[in-house]
Amino acid sequence: MNSIEVKKLTKRFGKFTAVDDINFTVKQGEVLGFLGANGAGKSTTIKMLCALLEPSSGDALVGGYSITKQPEMVKKSIGYMSQRFSLYNDLTVEENINFFGGVYGLDGAELIDRKNWVLKIANLQGQEKLLTASLPGGIKQRLALGTAVIHRPKIVFLDEPTSGVDPISRRSFWDLINDLSAQGTTVLVTTHYLEEAEYCENIILINSGKIIAEGNSKKLKSEYLKSDIYEIVCSDLINAFEILSKAEFVDEISIFGNYLHIMVNNKFTGVEQVKNTLQMNSQIQLTRINKIQPSLEDVFIHLLEESRV
Ligand SMILES: Nc1ncnc2c1ncn2[C@@H]1O[C@H](COP(=O)(O)OP(=O)(O)OP(=O)(O)O)[C@@H](O)[C@H]1O
Ligand SMILES: [Mg+2]
Repeated sequence: MNSIEVKKLTKRFGKFTAVDDINFTVKQGEVLGFLGANGAGKSTTIKMLCALLEPSSGDALVGGYSITKQPEMVKKSIGYMSQRFSLYNDLTVEENINFFGGVYGLDGAELIDRKNWVLKIANLQGQEKLLTASLPGGIKQRLALGTAVIHRPKIVFLDEPTSGVDPISRRSFWDLINDLSAQGTTVLVTTHYLEEAEYCENIILINSGKIIAEGNSKKLKSEYLKSDIYEIVCSDLINAFEILSKAEFVDEISIFGNYLHIMVNNKFTGVEQVKNTLQMNSQIQLTRINKIQPSLEDVFIHLLEESRV
């Protein structure tokens, strides 16, 4: 069963098109990663799907309700964690939980039950009276997720929930997302961290408001990257980058920390060719070169390069 069906969804701000005729579906219980650079259109899409922003054209069914015709029903069926977290810093932990519980119509025993659950997942049991502003980023983020799903929505939208928190908190946050999904909650999550996309069942890559790739990580790697990728370790990385980017056997090149990745074409004859090219032009020492399994980052760099031309 599909819990989200997006049809020709478009948002224009004046003459500028932020989201351009996108279509996709998300199955019940799926974790969909929505990826794209700054300004790609991720938040605009999420706000439309949460019925907080009216589309310029197109429509979507969220939990079976039309975002254009039944926006109030959509709002009741979903949870939403906005890009800057939705918590009130000047309220205590408990006041925030009570506030969101109230917004979603919880009271009495049910509110108490859900409050305890939120405190538990946020590791805040016994700390209800703390001021929200004083919480560390990772804890605040868990509290924000807890309040966003306090009413047990079937569908939850998380807009860059992990930005600005440390890697360990990010990892444990993903465990929470996976728990929700295991219980049947559909999760649409945006992120800047490509390694996090590997935790998603499906991935959509959006660029300038258009979907440029979708599928699971394995499919993206096999379908969109046909050429071989080599990893190079050498001295004078910047110079080597300059030289290899002009070599006729190199289609694409990028720097990954202390390494270079090159995508080669059919003029590539073997690793000796790289060695010779580097030595012919300067005194660069090649320490290591080997063929690698592409990462999602390789795939995305490739797709973004392609969409630029
Ligand atoms: N209310 C608005 N009026 C005019 N332009 C807007 C408005 N909201 C967003 N935009 C523009 O639409 C584009 C997409 O913005 P959006 O916030 O959806 O990007 P994003 O993918 O969420 O980026 P980020 O990773 O920075 O959060 C941007 O160029 C942005 O400047
Ligand atoms: Mg955004």
